Amino acid sequence: MMTRRIVDILKNGQPDESLTIQGWVRTKRDLKGFAFIEINDGSSLSNLQVVLNAEMPEYETLLKQLNTGASVEVDGVLVPSQGKGQRIELQAKTAKVYGEADPETYPLQKKRHSFEFLRTIGHLRSRTNSFGAVFRVRNACATAIHQFFQERGFLWVHTPIITRSDCEGAGELFTVTSFDLNKVPKTEQQDDVDYAQDFFGGKAYLTVSGQLEAEIMAMAFSNVYTFGPTFRAENSNTSRHLAEFWMVEPEMAFCDLHGDMDLAEAFLQHVFKYVMETCSEDMEFFNQRIDDSVLATAENIINNEFERITYTDAIALLEKAPVNFEYPVSWGLDLQSEHERYLAEQLFKKPAIVTDYPTGIKAFYMRLNDDQKTVRAMDILAPKIGEIIGGSQREERLDVLTQRMQSQGLNPDDLWWYLDLRRFGTVPHAGFGLGFERLVQFMTGMGNIRDVIPFPRTPLSADF
Ligand code: 4AD
Ligand code: MG
Repeated sequence: MMTRRIVDILKNGQPDESLTIQGWVRTKRDLKGFAFIEINDGSSLSNLQVVLNAEMPEYETLLKQLNTGASVEVDGVLVPSQGKGQRIELQAKTAKVYGEADPETYPLQKKRHSFEFLRTIGHLRSRTNSFGAVFRVRNACATAIHQFFQERGFLWVHTPIITRSDCEGAGELFTVTSFDLNKVPKTEQQDDVDYAQDFFGGKAYLTVSGQLEAEIMAMAFSNVYTFGPTFRAENSNTSRHLAEFWMVEPEMAFCDLHGDMDLAEAFLQHVFKYVMETCSEDMEFFNQRIDDSVLATAENIINNEFERITYTDAIALLEKAPVNFEYPVSWGLDLQSEHERYLAEQLFKKPAIVTDYPTGIKAFYMRLNDDQKTVRAMDILAPKIGEIIGGSQREERLDVLTQRMQSQGLNPDDLWWYLDLRRFGTVPHAGFGLGFERLVQFMTGMGNIRDVIPFPRTPLSADF
């Protein structure tokens, strides 16, 4: 008999169909003579209700074994359901228990658990409704991202995780050390420091961004994007920072900051639209249980243009704001998340693209404006999250770029290949980086970034 995914059965299953399902028990109701078991296989928020009858083989044993968390395979026939909230249910003929879950010790019982508690059992939390919905939406976002770029002819390029350059120049790097455990006598393995070497004799880091390498590829393929893990050794214990997060970084040759902003806006709209169409049940769930503005936010993104404003104008608005900010605002200072949120959440009530930041607070590669004081940068600020995208038009002029590197204390010789891109066939180009987890947070309304990635890496993580 064919094994079917529960999501497909709930949508298309017809009475009298014989089929097999596999999954985990969510709940059991023993009604003397028969029992209802709710099964979930991760394909959907909804469970499939299975009816066990006392006449079926091993009924009493099954009933004892099928507690919350047990894994099971059921063969049966679909029948119309008498119960509310479901069209069909599975009348079991036979069932096979793969693994029991002792109700005394299984940590997930039929009640609401706090996200803090669920973080302590990261290996089991994906079996809950909330995390099921989060990781299905995360998957849909990733699919939509590839779809968006592939439909527009962008090449997906794979930039390295181990690199020698600090793209953002912020010095927040994890270093990579080579270490051959086989060469160390077993008795001395505790004392690993003596045996550790730099990366085969040189310096290397985990990448903070694939941008510089993406620029190399854009100078050959015109439009490219990366989508992969990036790492930041910033010791920030906030609800929006991870030490390991995924970034999406498009890079476009023959493109300026306006083209960059237009692409970023169309990109976010596409991803929201795709998720609303393909994960409507999960999105309803977030709206009901996590944050009642989730659906309205999605509609707002899909149907409205983003606000566009320069940094200088944004500072003027913040200085006039009737709010006591914790951090000061004045021209030249970086925006803190409270400022970013005020602009997007309270003032504009939609995402805001802030452009033309002061040179001193942005990276060396951003194109210098004619005023010599600001750069062609853009950050997209989202309500409730703050910065979700950071991007810029890149400095394509060899002399200006060299000067900018020197004035930021960088040695141009270390990035000779990056300067070569300006020596040979340079073009105006632009790109941006989307923090993938911040997008998933924004979309689902989840309050903590640790709860939108299966295995969060933070200063205080983790069991695995
Ligand atoms: O603004 P950032 O640092 O920009 C770059 O890395 C550029 N090289 C991107 C580019 O132009 N290709 O980072 C981009 C985005 C931020 O807007 C934010 O959403 C996310 O990455 N981000 C983080 N997300 C989670 N945890 C952290 N520690 C993050 N740091 C940045
Ligand atoms: Mg940034």
